[in-house]
Amino acid sequence: ILVSALPFLVAFLIGSIPFAVIVSKLMGLGDPRSYGSGNPGATNVLRSGNKLAALLTLLGDAIKGTFAVALAMALHLPEHMVAGVALAVFLGHVFSVFLRFKGGKGVATAAGVLLGLDWRVGCATLLVWIAVAAATRYSSLAALCAAVAAPVITYLFMGHNVMPGAVLTMSLLLIWRHTSNIKKLMAGQEGRIGQKKADQA
Ligand code: G3P
Repeated sequence: ILVSALPFLVAFLIGSIPFAVIVSKLMGLGDPRSYGSGNPGATNVLRSGNKLAALLTLLGDAIKGTFAVALAMALHLPEHMVAGVALAVFLGHVFSVFLRFKGGKGVATAAGVLLGLDWRVGCATLLVWIAVAAATRYSSLAALCAAVAAPVITYLFMGHNVMPGAVLTMSLLLIWRHTSNIKKLMAGQEGRIGQKKADQA
């Protein structure tokens, strides 16, 4: 049992690496959990005003997702195990062991996972995010729309197997993690991309 659980444990640990906190610490910025939305993610790091830190957070959190999935595929794990690894790395980010299980919302990591599973699925989902973000400047709304689209896109490109189900699970968790964003969006109080922490309530 332990051996078959190993890929999921490793993926969970990889997902747990909190790039928002690590990058902020290395660059001498404040802890992203102490300002803005309090979320350890790229969108909130951008509220520190440091674009490079936000970019590095985005890349780190995305690449860990791609890496875990690519590793599972390179090891020729069966499809259902690759799906499990995809979920495990996402869950690691959301419930990071290094942040006492209070991790991020999973957007960048989910994007990385999708790119690793099938680059067409990743790119199509990213396009949804970019279109909504460009139109509204709401990072959370873009993520919510991309989360709704992702299982459908996965089904279209990868067909009827275990993957659309895994991606749907990821999307539902991601939407649940955006509960506070959904409330703010409906109240018209959500911050737009790039608004500094000083501008935020
Ligand atoms: O990447 C997470 C984003 O969708 C929302 O982040 O900090 O505005 O809650 P934040």
